[in-house]
Amino acid sequence: MKSNGRRSRVVVITGASAGVGRATVREFARQGAWIGLIARSREGLEGARREVEAAGGRAVALPTDVAHPEQVEAAAAAVERQLGPIDVWVNNAMVSVLSPAMQITPEEFRRVTDVTYLGYVYGTLAALRRMQPRDHGVIVQVGSALAYRSIPLQSAYCGAKHAVQGFVDSLRSELIHDGSHVHITTVQLPAVNTPQFSWIKSRMPRHPQPVPPIYQPEVIARAICWASHNRRREVCVGLPTVKAIVGNKFIPGLLDRYLAWIGYGAQQTDEPIDSNRPHNLFAPLPGDYGAHGRFDEGAREASLQFWMNRRRAWLGAGLAGVAAYVAYRMYGRQDDHSRDHRSVSVSDQGIRMREETDE
Ligand SMILES: NC(=O)c1ccc[n+]([C@@H]2O[C@H](COP(=O)([O-])OP(=O)(O)OC[C@H]3O[C@@H](n4cnc5c(N)ncnc54)[C@H](OP(=O)(O)O)[C@@H]3O)[C@@H](O)[C@H]2O)c1
Repeated sequence: MKSNGRRSRVVVITGASAGVGRATVREFARQGAWIGLIARSREGLEGARREVEAAGGRAVALPTDVAHPEQVEAAAAAVERQLGPIDVWVNNAMVSVLSPAMQITPEEFRRVTDVTYLGYVYGTLAALRRMQPRDHGVIVQVGSALAYRSIPLQSAYCGAKHAVQGFVDSLRSELIHDGSHVHITTVQLPAVNTPQFSWIKSRMPRHPQPVPPIYQPEVIARAICWASHNRRREVCVGLPTVKAIVGNKFIPGLLDRYLAWIGYGAQQTDEPIDSNRPHNLFAPLPGDYGAHGRFDEGAREASLQFWMNRRRAWLGAGLAGVAAYVAYRMYGRQDDHSRDHRSVSVSDQGIRMREETDE
């Protein structure tokens, strides 16, 4: 309970132990939320729980594999038992395999789909089972520019991200059909500096990296919190996200070729890696990785595009005002001038007519 007597918002975050999810935990905690923390790593979850409590909030750590619907359901029930009715559910957990599609095994495709797609479905349904009867709540899907524009070496992940889009669009129409006030929104991300690149399974020779420009997870965390307060259908973060989505709409064939050309190199640093390096596809790695990856240098701390996106109503109104003023200066003045001119010539004619009559 907050000091003003109002109940703290109860938020559930999947993939809360690291990366974007961990930064989002911190941002919601800063806003006074109570948080249900879902991920597999006990160490990462405990680290996140301590951070929420240090910020003065409450958190419950729930070791859960989101690929298993019964575990997700049990975690949702535990949050409501311990923290109260869920107001916001953030689906964020992911795994990926960096590899040419031909080398990804059926088991790996299934695992990426189970976590990165079905994990979102199970989370959404667990949230809806509680939000629908109360006709209240927000579900935030953490998406990606790659949900619109796939890139090479990430076929399993891109397929799962596209699938989330298909699921959400269908569900949103059902919610509208039912007259529900439960809101579902997607935050589409650019490349982010998270531990992902240190622990995804890779068959490539060099260390994985996000395709630059890279943003810090705090930029994304702020956008996710903002999206949970505002009823937008979709929130894009970062100009690269907008460029990928718009570009794919108009020049998809050209992008196929461009990505074939740059996509392999842009997803790897120059540093060779061990082909047997430990990965987190089926089980978490030991340790608490926190929010940031190893790409702090040069990572962006803010997004001008998102700043403008948040203020788009004001900026739109301002632009319309400026356009109306410019139009008035250019055409309104001309009209006034020609009206003046006409009235002079009419009165000239009038004078002339009067002069003719006098004669
Ligand atoms: N980083 C980027 O460049 C980027 C770009 C666009 C979109 N995104 C999106 O941002 C979101 C977060 O990505 P990230 O980069 O922060 O990833 P990350 O650093 O790899 O973190 C992934 C999180 O998911 C958890 N997780 C993995 N498998 C799980 C499972 N089976 N059950 C429960 N939790 C599981 C991990 O914790 P445990 O290992 O403890 O389970 C971790 O907390 C994803 O939805 C991703 O699509 C990221």
